[in-house]
Amino acid sequence: MSWLAFAIGLILAVIGIGGAIALASSSAQPWDPELTDNLIFAKSLPFILGFGILSGLARAASDRWVTERRPDGAIRRFSPGTALNHWINALGFLIAITTGSVQYLIGVADATLPFPLFWVYRLHFIGASLMVYSAALFVTHRLITGDTRLLPGRGEWIRHFRGLAHELPRPLGNVVAGVLGLDLRREPPPVGQFTYYEKAFSFPVWVLLLGLIIVTGLLKAMRYVAPIPGEVLWWASALHVAAMILLAAKFLDHLRYVLAPSRWPLLRSMVQTWVSQEYVRLRHPLWFESVQREERGPAPGGVGSAPEPARGGPHVAGGSGP
Ligand code: HEM
Repeated sequence: MSWLAFAIGLILAVIGIGGAIALASSSAQPWDPELTDNLIFAKSLPFILGFGILSGLARAASDRWVTERRPDGAIRRFSPGTALNHWINALGFLIAITTGSVQYLIGVADATLPFPLFWVYRLHFIGASLMVYSAALFVTHRLITGDTRLLPGRGEWIRHFRGLAHELPRPLGNVVAGVLGLDLRREPPPVGQFTYYEKAFSFPVWVLLLGLIIVTGLLKAMRYVAPIPGEVLWWASALHVAAMILLAAKFLDHLRYVLAPSRWPLLRSMVQTWVSQEYVRLRHPLWFESVQREERGPAPGGVGSAPEPARGGPHVAGGSGP
């Protein structure tokens, strides 16, 4: 079923994008390469979104609902589909943010490039397409599975902010604790599958900023195929640039976090999908406990394998993370 949904999405996307390219490139219209690319992008977007949604459905249907272990004890942190989607998004993001910055800077400096400008736009649309596909896949998958492990559950925000304040560098943690009235002399709460920093700060910020840049980008892309009011377009453009600047800062913060030597095992797990049992035991004790509980099976009283206390959403197999 899942391969069928993926294959149908792929075929429709190829037909749709191919049709848009054929139509826009036919000599019937005297469009320059920049406008042609823009029209191809705008007309391809419904197919890219549809392909992303069908891929998300396919992923949800193929999820396995147990935590996987390797013979050496290593625990599956991310499903292969999750890791692949993370890198599709990262590639699209890097292409889109580089080309977006070039467009912005040559506009501000009133400069010209040593090569035709439409190449910058063309690459920008390719990067944006990858991001739109990845976002549609991710949102569909999470809505269907109800997997909210990257966010604090209801009633858990204060505990997460306390954990976050402990994980931040001390001066910054003190500021967060001071503003929110948290007592840092209390023991830090144990860490689950994802750190408090990831759940209470990193992931929510990604969602807000990526949501903003994608929605404003879609509005900008539709301007030649739909009547978008000038004022809406002006705001969309301003917010698109603002989101780009904030995302550049968030990306640097993400690299600071994931490239820290103490987290190299997590970086490897984003490629290999596994992380050693020892690392999980030491750095993610609450997750380790829930994996062990799951392996022991449901307790006699019916209290079973809840991944973490008071958490919503299913425990999707293979630790299929972000
Ligand atoms: C190209 C450079 C990047 C590298 C090396 C990288 C690496 C990683 C790693 C190692 C993790 C796993 C952390 C863990 O296991 O707890 C992760 C998580 C994540 N990454 Fe990336 N990533 C990159 C780019 C991006 C981009 C461009 C985005 C979004 C636009 C992104 C969004 C996320 C999200 C949402 C998570 C989940 C947890 C969190 O928010 O920290 N990553 N990344």
